[in-house]
This record gives sequence, C-alpha cells and structure tokens, in this order.
Amino acid sequence: MLVDTYGRVATDLRVSLTDRCNLRCTYCMPEEGLQWLAKPDLLTDDEIVRLIGIAVTDLGITEVRFTGGEPLLRPGLVGIVERCAALQPRPKMSLTTNGIGLKRTAAALKAAGLDRVNVSLDTLRPDVFKTLTRRDRHHDVLDGMAAARDAGLTPVKVNAVLMPGLNDDEAPDLLAWAMEHGYELRFIEQMPLDAQHGWKRDGMITAGDILESLRTRFTLSAEGDDARGSAPAERWTVDGGPHRVGVIASVTRPFCRACDRTRLTADGQVRTCLFATEETDLRAALRSDAPDEEIARIWKAAMWGKKAGSGLDDPSFLQPERPMSAIGG
Ligand code: GTP
Ligand code: 5AD
Ligand code: SF4
Repeated sequence: MLVDTYGRVATDLRVSLTDRCNLRCTYCMPEEGLQWLAKPDLLTDDEIVRLIGIAVTDLGITEVRFTGGEPLLRPGLVGIVERCAALQPRPKMSLTTNGIGLKRTAAALKAAGLDRVNVSLDTLRPDVFKTLTRRDRHHDVLDGMAAARDAGLTPVKVNAVLMPGLNDDEAPDLLAWAMEHGYELRFIEQMPLDAQHGWKRDGMITAGDILESLRTRFTLSAEGDDARGSAPAERWTVDGGPHRVGVIASVTRPFCRACDRTRLTADGQVRTCLFATEETDLRAALRSDAPDEEIARIWKAAMWGKKAGSGLDDPSFLQPERPMSAIGG
C-alpha cells in the first residue's frame, strides 16, 4: 500500500503521458509553448505499463487516470489502455483531455477498455474559446465530447475554469448546456500552476463566486461529505435532481485531508502532490533493471514523505517548478 504519515492511502494514480499540448490556454502556458521533454527522457509505452502493473499488483492502486499535457497526443495511448485493461486486478481507467481528437479516438479507447473521460471546456462562445486557448478549435471539442458520450465513455465530466472578464459570466449558461447534453459539469478554481507564474489570488474566481452566480438561475442542494469520499469536487444537486454540478475549490476549500492520489510524470518521476516541490525518480531504477520489489519500495518511500497539504495558505508557499501541463493536472 502507498501510505503516508498522516494515514492517507493512495489508491488513485494519475499518469501523465506527455507534457505537450495542442492548445495554449492562457492560464496554463505561453503562446510559444514550453521547452518540451526530450523523447529519450519520456517513459516508453512498455515502461509505463510496467509501472502501472506494479502500482496495481503490489501497491493497491485501483484507479488510473491518464493525463497530459494532452494525452491524446501520445501515439501509443490506445495500446497502453488495452494493456492496462489486462492487468489483474483490472484498474478503473479514465482520461482527462481537452477533447480535440476524441471524435476520432473515442470508440477505439472504449474498445480498449477505457471507462470514462473528463473534458476541459471553459466557454460556450467560440470567440472566447479562441482568446482563451489561442486556437480556433471550439467545434472540435464539442464534437469530441459528443463522440465520447456516444461511445459510452460515461459519465462525461466537463471541467471549466472561469477567468475574470473573460468567461466569468458563463457559469449558468454552461450548466444549462451541460444538463441539456447529459454531461456532468465541474468548475475548477484557478491554481498557481501556470508556467508564466501569473496567478493572483485576488484575481481568482472563487467557489463562492461560482455558487452565487449559479444560484441566480438554479436551486442547488449540497450532496454532503458522504457522497464525496476522496473526490476533489464538492457536488450540488440542481433543481431537485437528477442533474448535479461540482466545484473543485483547491484554493478556498482544499480537500488535502482526504487526498488519495499519487502521480507519475511523463519522464517517470513520482509526485506525491500537485504542489510537491520534490520528485522521486523511478525511471533511473527502471533503466538499471531494478526488480519490481525495488521499484515498489522506492514508490512507497516517496509516498511516506507526502506533505499534509498543498501549502497554498503558508506565507512561504512556493509554486512548484513544473507547470500543470508537465505534472499532469
Ligand atoms: P474524477 O474522478 O472524474 O472526479 O476526476 P478528477 O476531478 O480528480 O480529475 P480531473 O483530471 O478532471 O481533474 C479536475 C481538476 O482537479 C484539475 O484541475 C486537477 O488539477 C484538479 N485536481 C486533481 N487532483 C488534484 C489534487 O490532488 N489536488 C488538487 N488541488 N487538485 C487536483
Ligand atoms: N488551475 C486550475 N485548473 C487548471 N487546469 C489547467 N491549468 C489549471 C490551473 N492553473 C485544468 C484544465 C483541465 C484540468 C486538468 O486542469 O482546464 O480541465
Ligand atoms: Fe493544454 Fe490543458 Fe494546458 Fe489547456 S490547460 S494548454 S488544454 S495542457
């Protein structure tokens, strides 16, 4: 098991498959992109499957989420999913994507054994999408979501980040649209994980702001902590149900005490937290032919050192060196 000194047990593994992306969301990376990881530094498909196998068989991981950058840019994705679906015990598998390319790949991913997807969409307005992501691909994202739903990669969850002056007036419209299309919408508070270090707490749209805006059009009832478990999203039932909306308030209402996550970067580093300032190298062990037991031991030791929380409220808080796109969300 992956246990830490606060008694938390990690059962959910987030695996970043690439740090590259085909969008340039302003809250994530600059127009020119970033210095991408070099190919030899990336874990190979075989290395990724081996590590996930160790996590599932020896370390108690039951859920695997593939992330990026943009994971659909990883050429071997379908094969990786297929091989992970053959592991014993079979982990639950999901993918967090910007949706571009999903139209083409949804059916193959479902057939390979993927269970569900979360798709990022911050706006219903194509012009705002273009400003926010610096790419004119709004339509591709909507098509991708519909393809995922039709392929049975459900529930399709939609992640939306609201930015002041750009899309912060869209919360009720996004919710009405998501309910109409059968998607589960979650709003995410913007976190200090952008490559440009431009995040300002004062400028952020908070969970409180979002709920206030939603309540101008909907009646929301809190689902409560029992239904939440270790999920980052707090959920509300909309207008008596059955639809729900979530808010991931990592900044104003952190959920670190219930965190059940461990992360693997595309270059084979374990991160105990999104906001961890240290990483533990598994790639070197893999490439020096360490046996599974040794890799499991290194991973366990890393998780034992997991900090209590993100440290966002500490006066000494330092943004991690790697941006969100390289950590894997
Ligand atoms: P579900 O199981 O579908 O609810 O997945 P999820 O919400 O955990 O995954 P997703 O990849 O869609 O992430 C949504 C948002 O939650 C992203 O902005 C993530 O960065 C954020 N998030 C995921 N894990 C953590 C975490 O451990 N800590 C914090 N603070 N935020 C997280
Ligand atoms: N703060 C909050 N969410 C972010 N995402 C990307 N960067 C940030 C940030 N700085 C979101 C994406 C995607 C999810 C994985 O994380 O929009 O939905
Ligand atoms: Fe790409 Fe996601 Fe970053 Fe947007 S937030 S640029 S979709 S990695």
